Amino acid sequence: MKLSLTPKLSTFLKPSLASTPLRRSLCSSSPSPPPPPISLKPQTPLFLRPPIHSATSSDLQQWQDWAKTLASSVGSTFANSDNGPDSTLLLRELNWLVDDAVQQGIENGQRKIRLRVSLEELYLLWKQRIEERKPFQYIVGCEHWRELVLCVQEGVLIPRPETELIVDLVGDVVKGEEGLREGLWADLGTGSGAIAIGIARVLGTGGGRVIATDLSPTAISVAGFNVERYGLQDVVELRKGSWFDPLKDVEGKLAGFVSNPPYIPSDNISGLQAEVGRHEPRVALDGGVDGMDDLLHLCKGAASILKPGGFFAFETNGEKQCKYLVEYMENEARGSFCNLSIIPDFAGIHRFVTGFHK
Ligand SMILES: C[S@@+](CC[C@H](N)C(=O)[O-])C[C@H]1O[C@@H](n2cnc3c(N)ncnc32)[C@H](O)[C@@H]1O
Repeated sequence: MKLSLTPKLSTFLKPSLASTPLRRSLCSSSPSPPPPPISLKPQTPLFLRPPIHSATSSDLQQWQDWAKTLASSVGSTFANSDNGPDSTLLLRELNWLVDDAVQQGIENGQRKIRLRVSLEELYLLWKQRIEERKPFQYIVGCEHWRELVLCVQEGVLIPRPETELIVDLVGDVVKGEEGLREGLWADLGTGSGAIAIGIARVLGTGGGRVIATDLSPTAISVAGFNVERYGLQDVVELRKGSWFDPLKDVEGKLAGFVSNPPYIPSDNISGLQAEVGRHEPRVALDGGVDGMDDLLHLCKGAASILKPGGFFAFETNGEKQCKYLVEYMENEARGSFCNLSIIPDFAGIHRFVTGFHK
């Protein structure tokens, strides 16, 4: 599968909501359809399924013609309504779907088409993409993130490109610091396991370990699938529970912890791009009235969970949340932290707050 273009969460907002100040309340009027049932069992991404189905080239061509017509009919309607994909992007996604689902070759001198899903399912998948606005990553069951291809499905947040930087921040602090590189780390709210797996690979073989937690059983199950796919079962341990609850036995012992918690203000959820608002889990997005509920909870627990010299990094919605957190940690947790920093993402938006426990 080719890399799809997954913009950061803030770009999923309708243009009028993208710069909403903290605590501003917005009205929501459009009712959302009921959420689809969510499977706890990890689903195998398309590209990993065996090509056990077959189709004639004319049937496959007929499907492709129909799928192209459907994608072209969208024009810029979604883009104008909520910053959604336009026909050009949808047609590119259609090519990626074909790459993942179709295997063409010659068998006994004859052209053969093998499919990893049935043709009927391909019709259904493309209808879901266009008519239900199901995210492309849920259609193919995976997302490219750093050098990884991670399994994702409904019930688990699709990891975003800007979050990749958290792994680099950890990579920077463990360089030349054996005590941190060989220590115990945690990724709170791990989702697909992206950050935990990234950190485990950065820590290398020096004995460092990562605990990945999440409240969502689907996330824990999908993260487990991804951890196993990368052979990291001995390095990444999964624990289900709310924030610091599953970490009581390691209080004061962590070399570092990171989190990309829910941080969208509740009132902004209804303004999100349909792919996000209708399909990605609310528990992964909604950070309360001003988006700060979970970030503040994590700040409050940071001093007790970290060992002296331990590092933390949080992802936020942008500059306002970053400033709020730094001020909070300077004023409320006076004396507990040092080297508090605000770090921009690739787009220059102030995105991360980092620091060390004294
Ligand atoms: C924004 S998503 C981040 C997922 C993943 N870390 C990533 O960056 O792609 C936030 C995650 O926090 C989890 N979460 C929400 N509330 C939680 C809680 N009280 N305790 C633990 N995890 C929670 C959600 O299930 C979701 O997986």
